[in-house]
Amino acid sequence: MEDKKIIGVLTSGGDAPGMNAAVRAVTRAAIRKNMQVIGIKHGYNGLLSNEMETLNERSVSDIIGKGGTILYTARCLEFKTDEGIDKAVENCKKLGLTGGIVVIGGDGSFRGARDLSLKGIPCVGIPGTIDNDISCTEYTIGYDTAMNTAVELVDKIRDTAQSHDRCSVVEVMGRGAGYIAVNVGVACGAVEVITKEVKFSLEKIIEKIIRLQSTGKKHFIILVSEGVGGSVDIAKEIEARTGIETRATILGHVQRGGAPSVRDRVVATQMGERAVELLDKGIGNKVIGLKDGRIVDYDILEGLNMKKAYDEDLHKLCEKLSF
Ligand code: ADP
Ligand code: F6P
Repeated sequence: MEDKKIIGVLTSGGDAPGMNAAVRAVTRAAIRKNMQVIGIKHGYNGLLSNEMETLNERSVSDIIGKGGTILYTARCLEFKTDEGIDKAVENCKKLGLTGGIVVIGGDGSFRGARDLSLKGIPCVGIPGTIDNDISCTEYTIGYDTAMNTAVELVDKIRDTAQSHDRCSVVEVMGRGAGYIAVNVGVACGAVEVITKEVKFSLEKIIEKIIRLQSTGKKHFIILVSEGVGGSVDIAKEIEARTGIETRATILGHVQRGGAPSVRDRVVATQMGERAVELLDKGIGNKVIGLKDGRIVDYDILEGLNMKKAYDEDLHKLCEKLSF
């Protein structure tokens, strides 16, 4: 009897809602192709410490709608070293885990996946991060859920800002990109969005608030991206210069949790299936993406080197309609 191909699946870097849906899709699609699936725990750490377990079709029951990741996740510094990669390759070979690994995470995780692929363990990356900051894909798993969570929270902040005639400065996640901030800003009718992709002047923002006050506007929402930060200082400056009571709120990790949205579940499922198709053909060193709404794949390095545009028109639209 022919030996079953064994593949692994892991989640790495910051968790994102929808990662479980991807783990489920990978597991079930692989079992359908008569492969054995190993769930590797705590990202690349599990590959180095052999913290893993075989997944069957029942292991992934009831997880499609759960936030977080049943496989746990981590940032593994040892994996950034040649010794770490060599140890992982050795472990994979000992375990017969040579069919490849599906790595669900961000671009750091994909660099690790590339290193492993080049050393003979084919890896396929699935973009999973709330930030949507992976260049080769229009969409990353977790983005939609995180934006919806942020919108729900900013709407709540608006209620209290309106009741007290206050200004609220709200900081949303996105260490390297302002995609969450600009979309949430538009969706919540923010007066201004501050991201690092577009040059901003606090002076002009303050002038705008004063101008709008004279038209009867009494409460204001300003969205700040984590990559710019400083929302507490921005709030203090606005209060000092306009006389409007101003509060800063950093939404933080609440944006990373919760049940994944429909979009996150669907994209995760499609990407999971494509990743398995590639490994089934023995193809590694790939990253999955979404382009014009369709699932695509690229060589990892090519994917990492791509550039992604920031929607400046959307940014302008937010400002244009807030008067
Ligand atoms: P993300 O994948 O969300 O971008 P990180 O940048 O923290 O998150 O990367 C996740 C993990 O991927 C790291 O902890 C490390 O194990 C691995 N990794 C990151 N960068 C590299 C690299 N240059 N080479 C090998 N592995 C890497
Ligand atoms: O990459 C996703 C992200 O949520 C960033 O927006 C944020 O800066 C970072 O992860 C926070 O990571 P940690 O889990 O280390 O707090």
